[in-house]
Amino acid sequence: MTPTTVSSWNDFDPLKHVIVGRADHTCIPPAEPCSEAKIPEDSDMRGMWGPRPLETVEKANEQLDALAKLLEDRGIRVDRPTPLQWNQAVHTPDFSTGSMFGCMPPRDVLLTVGKEILLAPMSFRSRYWEYLAYEPLLAKYFEEDPQFRWEQAPRPRLSDESYRAGYFDDITIEERLQRTAALNFVTNEKEILFDAADICRLGKDLFCQHGLTTNRKAMRWLQRHFPDHRVHAVNFPGDPYPIHIDATFVPLRPGLIINNPDRPLPDSQREIFQRNDWEIVDAARSVHNSPPPLCYSSVWLSMNCLVLDHKTVVVEASETRQMEQMDKLGMNVLPIAFRDAYPFGGGIHCATGDVYREGSCEDYFAVQPPGTQVLPD
Ligand code: ALA
Repeated sequence: MTPTTVSSWNDFDPLKHVIVGRADHTCIPPAEPCSEAKIPEDSDMRGMWGPRPLETVEKANEQLDALAKLLEDRGIRVDRPTPLQWNQAVHTPDFSTGSMFGCMPPRDVLLTVGKEILLAPMSFRSRYWEYLAYEPLLAKYFEEDPQFRWEQAPRPRLSDESYRAGYFDDITIEERLQRTAALNFVTNEKEILFDAADICRLGKDLFCQHGLTTNRKAMRWLQRHFPDHRVHAVNFPGDPYPIHIDATFVPLRPGLIINNPDRPLPDSQREIFQRNDWEIVDAARSVHNSPPPLCYSSVWLSMNCLVLDHKTVVVEASETRQMEQMDKLGMNVLPIAFRDAYPFGGGIHCATGDVYREGSCEDYFAVQPPGTQVLPD
């Protein structure tokens, strides 16, 4: 076993050590102010909650185990979280909710920035204790890497005051899109709220999606917390459910990003990429018309790939268009079946969390157009 090193500055340098999630005991949590944001009006999940059927858990775990094996066969160290009994209720002084969620998507919770792993506050009440599944691993890394920084963002209250009341009453898709464009989200600015998967790490620059799970106060906090980084706010007006950036804006290697064509980055926010010679390419469309049953995510999990190095990427095996596009973009594609795991928290990128990638903190955006950065207070 190699000694543990925690370090990762981006999503594309050579991957050496990663966490792959587990589906055990995953629940569909009961409705709460923030999750109403995510579950589409016509979803088969409306009104349902409780543990997911065992046979679906087993199928998801088979695919997660296969992902872990693919990575291990390539010499990448893989760790796994310790699932809790997610069907337990959550009670705090500020709220109660009927169950937790799961630990299939470490990407949502763990933000690795250099030698630090930062535990995100999480904007869903059902996800308040999710970090506990990763605590045994973090405790181990703490003992094994003397430079590892184990950090926790301020714990949120998640009382009714953190959410806009009545936000989802009779809301149409058109209204959702207008609200995304107007930066009007269910989470208000009362406290610091973010999920780790809303942040795209590109060396010295952190691009944060302002959406249903991450607010501006979080970006100001991140800028203060990472004073040597530049924090940028991005948003994607074509997304009716803007939660997590990794099915929308996905870097493949230095200088190249694929962007969801239904959720283009606005021109004003493109400038920093253009001025620094980064190419933003429209991602290929999924071959699927709908996500699998009981899934929170969109068909755009087709883009939710795991880059292993500047030339190698793991893509969901049925997504032939995405694989062809990756191939044309000069990537070697490793296909893996993963759609049975999607309902448990997302795609291949969601299901992983970086511990160690080679490489250092590069400054990819030496030219900083005025007004692109979240200003420090
Ligand atoms: N928000 C992501 C999607 O497109 C995960 O579903």
